[in-house]
Amino acid sequence: MKMAKKIIFWILVGFALIQFFPIDRTNKPINSAANFVDARKTPEKIRTLLKNACYDCHSNETVYPKYAFIAPVSWSVKSHVNEGREHLNFSTWETYNKDLKENMITKSIQTIQSKAMPMPGYIVYHKEANLSEAERALLIQYFEEMLKTKTY
Ligand code: HEC
Repeated sequence: MKMAKKIIFWILVGFALIQFFPIDRTNKPINSAANFVDARKTPEKIRTLLKNACYDCHSNETVYPKYAFIAPVSWSVKSHVNEGREHLNFSTWETYNKDLKENMITKSIQTIQSKAMPMPGYIVYHKEANLSEAERALLIQYFEEMLKTKTY
């Protein structure tokens, strides 16, 4: 019993200590000339869908939820944001070359279709990112139109 109490005590101490590891949650400033939704003047509906479902991980406009402030959950959130931005960052869209843009649009269509994106774990806490079939179809249609007309 004494042992169990000790273990719990040290787990609590450990939990308290990891809260002090700093995590950088500052967003880089937005350059609207490079930002996907601004540069392309996307229709309002598409803009809202992208902002609600993709921008937290794929832009420099991340809004961190409350649970993102408690370690170790915060580490996982931050690593998803870093990784998401590395793959695709809508805030720096206009700095991409044509091939990369085409590739990202193609992959976006695939991942939305297969429901790999937005990440399933994220949807649980972000109801607005839980896209309906109709909303998925709208986004796919918008991206397909880009591919067809080659306007990236
Ligand atoms: C909770 C964070 C999160 C959200 C929300 C999210 N993504 Fe992702 N996305 C990631 C991460 C992390 C990766 C990289 C790892 C992987 O492929 O699973 C990724 C990868 C991708 C890739 C693959 C890029 C490549 O190089 O293969 C595409 C395309 C993509 N996301 C599009 C989207 C779109 C479109 C949305 C919105 C409908 C979205 N994502 C929403 C985190 C997210």
